[in-house]
Amino acid sequence: IPQEKIRNFSIIAHIDHGKSTLADRLLEITGAVSEREMREQYLDRLDLERERGITIKAQAVRLYYERKKGEVYQLNLIDTPGHVDFSYEVSRALSACEGALLVVDASQGVEAQTLANVYLALENNLEIIPVINKIDLPQADVEKTKREIEEIIGLPAEDALLVSAKQGIGIKEVLEAIVEKIPPPKGERDAPLRALVFDSWYDSYLGVVVLVRIVEGKLYPGQKIRFLSTGKTFEVTKVGVFAPEATTLDALYAGEVGFIAASIKEVRDAKIGDTITEASAQVEALPGFKEIKPVVFAGIFPVDSDDFPELKEAIEKLWLNDPAFSYEVETSAALGFGFRCGFQGLLHMEIVQERLEREFKLNLISTAPSVKYRVRLRNGKELEIENPAEWPDPGTIEEVLEPYIQAEIYTPKEYLGALINLCEEKRGIQKEIKYLTPERIVLIYELPFSEVVMDFYDKLKSLSRGYASLDYQFIGYRPSDLVKMDILINKQPVDALSLIVHREKAYYRGRDLVSKLKEVIPRQLFEVIIQAAIGSKIIARERIAPLRKDVLAKCYGGDVTRKKKLLEKQKEGKKRLKSIGQVEIPQEAFLAVLKI
Ligand code: GTP
Repeated sequence: IPQEKIRNFSIIAHIDHGKSTLADRLLEITGAVSEREMREQYLDRLDLERERGITIKAQAVRLYYERKKGEVYQLNLIDTPGHVDFSYEVSRALSACEGALLVVDASQGVEAQTLANVYLALENNLEIIPVINKIDLPQADVEKTKREIEEIIGLPAEDALLVSAKQGIGIKEVLEAIVEKIPPPKGERDAPLRALVFDSWYDSYLGVVVLVRIVEGKLYPGQKIRFLSTGKTFEVTKVGVFAPEATTLDALYAGEVGFIAASIKEVRDAKIGDTITEASAQVEALPGFKEIKPVVFAGIFPVDSDDFPELKEAIEKLWLNDPAFSYEVETSAALGFGFRCGFQGLLHMEIVQERLEREFKLNLISTAPSVKYRVRLRNGKELEIENPAEWPDPGTIEEVLEPYIQAEIYTPKEYLGALINLCEEKRGIQKEIKYLTPERIVLIYELPFSEVVMDFYDKLKSLSRGYASLDYQFIGYRPSDLVKMDILINKQPVDALSLIVHREKAYYRGRDLVSKLKEVIPRQLFEVIIQAAIGSKIIARERIAPLRKDVLAKCYGGDVTRKKKLLEKQKEGKKRLKSIGQVEIPQEAFLAVLKI
């Protein structure tokens, strides 16, 4: 297919506005997937993605659209995730495109991630086509959505496409707009090869699979290629596209998107953002991507300490598939050997933990997430601390700094008061309140990131009945009066439960946390005392009374099945219990701080 009949595009949207559903319809209407094979959210390959209904990894599929008899266009669709935690994936995907469909839910309007994604698209000079989705819903308000697209985003919306991805309305018009409005790719087919790596993962059959956008030249089996950043060379064994199943081809040409395999053993040899060239050629590297840095840190430990080697292997394998998290070995007096991991956000953290447990059949405990603090010591040294257990002796500390973000909160005006209270409670500094339209407001606050990591997002959603949305960026480190709070169980400090808190809030936090721990730690055969302390000062205390009788005593003489059930229940409950000293502590205890 000639280059002028190729279109590379992405679908961008706020989470849940209907990207994956629209992608499904495009797959269907172009015949890439027959009705029989169709299943919902076809492109979400990971089970976890399908269950949670969110897209995690970007996927690229090739579709053929026969506009008129004999006039066939090649459409390369790159699906992207919508959640804040995954915006680095969006930005990578967009670099392989010339255009983007901007999906806006007609019942919700423009939200924080809609705008954030538009900025990413504009940075990549993409042609943006507004698509108003879910017009079938009774609460859909097309006119209002159009106004928001014009006023908030600044895109003309009179030609916005009106679609119901769910009911298949307006899909043909979407294809037409892609062909009409998105420019074809540029790039010489005869020039020396330059291809941008925009994703790579390990596949047990093919080895490392590399997703590329060919910028110039061509890629074909048998070719000798070199990765510019490492200088390593490989011979291409396969090239192809997902259509949507993997299909091999003779070659990929300038302007196209597809995958290659080249007997690469390690994903780290196919670094995302790298440039592939011919082994012997001297060409300049393509502009890559920003380095991805984790922002939230937590410990991950096996419940059964003997599983550490399995956890190590699992983490290494999973990392090859998701290099956006980081890991290093950590030892905890309470939890033994494990890993300190860094994530893009809380959702990312949950997903990594869940994938480790499911895909590698591990039973894990994770500790409360923490941000990275900077501590200036009296002796002039500066430490970066992402693990409260490593907090230095308060006597040696000169100053503590914590990361701040600027948050943009989009909300209908009814929730303004509640959201301002929330931001104030989280030590926020108000910067601006803007009316975007008479009904919609954007609130701009500077907030300590540590407060946002906790339960900010959940609270924001519940206070606004799901209507408010959040986007944020880092604005740097600021001095803050922070102290380390220790939790003692029967007088023993449990390092994995320590946390960093603002001094003014330490007392309340301590009291809440201790009473929450009392709720989640099961009664034992002996008395358990839980204390919160700052240095040697105890600020809160609770007591769990000892168990009097064995649970089974209750069904003494009762029927056997009931007894069995009880025993099973107990066993089930044990799964996530970690013995610390003699006290058994459940996973919830480590995350209790998120709930206070
Ligand atoms: P992420 O992949 O998590 O970013 O979400 P998404 O934007 O891909 O949204 P998805 O396609 O998963 O749709 C979210 C929900 O909206 C699903 O329950 C869909 O069934 C529903 N939905 C999508 N399009 C329409 C539509 O046109 N009308 C109605 N009524 N519901 C829709």
